[in-house]
Amino acid sequence: MASSRPQRPRLDTTTPNMGRVADYFLGGKDNFAVDREAAEAALAITPELPALWREGRRFLGRAVRFLAQEAGIRQFVDIGCGLPTQGNVHEIAHSVAPDARVVYVDNDPMVVVHGQALLQDDRLTVVIEADVREPELLLSHPRLTEMIDLDEPVAILLFGVLQDIPDDALVLQISDHLRKAISPGSYMAISQPVSDLRPEATAKLAAFYQDEGAISGPRREGLRTKTEVERCFEGLDLVDPGVVYIPQWRPDGVVLHRPDSIWVVGGIGRKA
Ligand SMILES: C[S@@+](CC[C@H](N)C(=O)[O-])C[C@H]1O[C@@H](n2cnc3c(N)ncnc32)[C@H](O)[C@@H]1O
Repeated sequence: MASSRPQRPRLDTTTPNMGRVADYFLGGKDNFAVDREAAEAALAITPELPALWREGRRFLGRAVRFLAQEAGIRQFVDIGCGLPTQGNVHEIAHSVAPDARVVYVDNDPMVVVHGQALLQDDRLTVVIEADVREPELLLSHPRLTEMIDLDEPVAILLFGVLQDIPDDALVLQISDHLRKAISPGSYMAISQPVSDLRPEATAKLAAFYQDEGAISGPRREGLRTKTEVERCFEGLDLVDPGVVYIPQWRPDGVVLHRPDSIWVVGGIGRKA
């Protein structure tokens, strides 16, 4: 009988994987030849990709610091966490609140194995394998429910992951499910690359990743627009300054790239 469950990615060294491609862009070593080739081909289309990834990590840092420091959040669920790199969510959260609990979630077995090995001595941080396309299963994972009390405020982080799900209706179902599952006073933070600033190049890039098999699901022409990403925050109160290009989200004064070269938007919403 055919299963309607999303396909679980295998540890496949013949198909590029977005997490490993990102690792290559960030100067990491956890990537295979196929990832490096895909990364180089993607760079030929959009040479600014490494800058996007670096700005993505800087946004993650500012967002998690805001959540731990200003919003007082002590529970984090980082979905599509990717391979461990520098400035990971638990490191930032623990620098503000040493008692914060962090659950990392990814559907890539390589990410999960790596993270588990790195964090085996950390009582307050776990890594689980789950798929954001199955949010109910994800939130009821026994390792997650041991760490996270969904009756208390929590921050759900979706940094650079929803663009890997081409189905718009599914993405809205996911954000809706997550919003309903969290308690008042909780937050959802999302970042996603968008098409608005560079429609042609980003459409080419999206087609390339889909052709390479790095993104699965129904084919989608191009990336989402900023307005489409904003819909994921429906039902939440947007924290100032709203959904903006990530260098403009509460900047820390260090300007590394021209803001209009970073076509990733991000924001944080609060459940009232
Ligand atoms: C490009 S990385 C982003 C890493 C990190 N969040 C960041 O912003 O630097 C995207 C991650 O999402 C994971 N991912 C993609 N689709 C997913 C899904 N359906 N469920 C869970 N994780 C997924 C990939 O395996 C990858 O590790």
